[in-house]
Amino acid sequence: MSKKNIILIGFMGTGKTTVGSALAQKMKWQHVDTDMLIEEKEGSILEIFHKHGEAHYRQIEAACIRRVVLDHQLVITTGGGSVLLPENRIVLKQSGFVVLLTATPETIIKRVREDESRPLLQGNLEERVHQLLRERENAYKFADFTIDTTDLGVDEIVEKIVRQFTSAHVE
Ligand code: S3P
Repeated sequence: MSKKNIILIGFMGTGKTTVGSALAQKMKWQHVDTDMLIEEKEGSILEIFHKHGEAHYRQIEAACIRRVVLDHQLVITTGGGSVLLPENRIVLKQSGFVVLLTATPETIIKRVREDESRPLLQGNLEERVHQLLRERENAYKFADFTIDTTDLGVDEIVEKIVRQFTSAHVE
């Protein structure tokens, strides 16, 4: 199966959007962020969760992913929970080189603390992060390549992804 896109997955606060943007510049590809597309079309994610619930959001997210992967030579960045539906894992794996970004729970907590736009992190932040990380432990395992971003700068992460993608003889 030809791996026509580079797709970044990973928990909230692992740097998907920042790395995706820098990676797209390096590859001279377009960067598409599924959260941003959803917000442009449907309004804020926080509001979607509050008005319609998580299950509804997951349906919108799945539809967005199905549309986005029809294209090629895109850097696609996804929401942290996009891997929860098995259907999404299959679609993502089939349509791109999937890179998992990780970070320690402490790093994640530090990175997301100031941003209150994430509905699933409302309440006790430390508890929420640890609980969701536990719940999602297995959902991220389908990636082609994994990078721990805890102690790396954006350029180093981009470099590693490009090297890995190129050496995997992909288009
Ligand atoms: C979510 C992650 C968010 C966003 C939504 C739900 C999740 O994206 O899709 O708040 O379930 O992990 P980021 O991973 O870009 O923060």
